[in-house]
Amino acid sequence: MRTEVLLADEVAVTKAAQVIRAGGLVAFPTETVYGLGADGLNERAARRIFAAKERPSDDPLIVHIAHLQELSQLARSVPELAWDLAKRFWPGPLTLVLERAARVPKVTTGGLETVAVRAPAHTVAQKLIHASGCPIAAPSANRFGRPSPTRAEHVLEDLDGRVEIVLDGGPTLVGLESTVLDMTQNPPMVLRPGGITLEELQAVLGDVRTLEPTDRKAAQRSPGTRSRHYAPRAKLLLTEPGEAEALAQSFLDQGERVGLLLQRRPSLADSRLHVQQMPTDLKSYAQRLFAALRELDAQRVDLIIVESVEERELGRAIMDRLRRAGSLLL
Ligand code: TXA
Ligand code: MG
Repeated sequence: MRTEVLLADEVAVTKAAQVIRAGGLVAFPTETVYGLGADGLNERAARRIFAAKERPSDDPLIVHIAHLQELSQLARSVPELAWDLAKRFWPGPLTLVLERAARVPKVTTGGLETVAVRAPAHTVAQKLIHASGCPIAAPSANRFGRPSPTRAEHVLEDLDGRVEIVLDGGPTLVGLESTVLDMTQNPPMVLRPGGITLEELQAVLGDVRTLEPTDRKAAQRSPGTRSRHYAPRAKLLLTEPGEAEALAQSFLDQGERVGLLLQRRPSLADSRLHVQQMPTDLKSYAQRLFAALRELDAQRVDLIIVESVEERELGRAIMDRLRRAGSLLL
């Protein structure tokens, strides 16, 4: 299959919507990361997503809608609290997990009796869903196990020849995936921290639980949160703030090629050292993170050293992704 990359204008969106209606695959920008979309109510189309990504079939997809009201067509029932959240945070980076309506195929939900739904804030995503006339199931448009794509080029790196169209809408705004919130439990539980922060959810819900990385049983509820996941090719070491450069030096001394994500100017210089200087504010850091990991991979570094960021607001989602990408914690 030949993959067409199209600038996401009206003509391209119309063409992409035809592909979706015909059961094909379209990668498109959302405000979080690029998604790999197909008709979420078409079993065969949804199956193609898993094949293209090489994703295990029990890892459920998020179904994207254009208008808040469409939620009631996908969920068996929508609790009042879910409507409150939808009204407050949609369109935006919040995914709600609810009881599945019968019309949502089990292929889409990875065999679960629940369905994950969100209304993305990106106008290209909204127009595509609208023009397709169906909800669009879409995981992040990366090959399984790779960092999520925040640019159309990243999608091509991973999925060239596996998807009919890539709509190029430029770099994504949030840079990390949506927050996944399980509304079938009381109080609701954050299964994956993301673009809407715990602090923002607490302001609406009062009580919210979070999924501890050690909570295996709860992790079964969201298969995508199980394992080493957002992994760059290189090994990733997570250190305390201020310790990365000394550690980098010790690996350089052993002849390794080292990548460094640093929120300041590095004092080291070495031909085998590749530095990505990261912004100090968490929002811009999140925006840059996946692209920085991909760039270091492209430099063929043996390992990437990253300093922890503060675990508040977007810092929770950043640390979650770094921990998942890390094969070693220091
Ligand atoms: O920002 C995002 O959420 C992006 C854009 C494209 O919307 N999508 C995304 O999809 O990150 P994906 O498939 O890479 O991650 C979806 C996460 C996985 O961890 C999956 O296990 C969880 O949502 N999930 C999906 N449906 C679920 C369900 N019914 N119950 C529990 N977790 C679910
Ligand atoms: Mg993903």
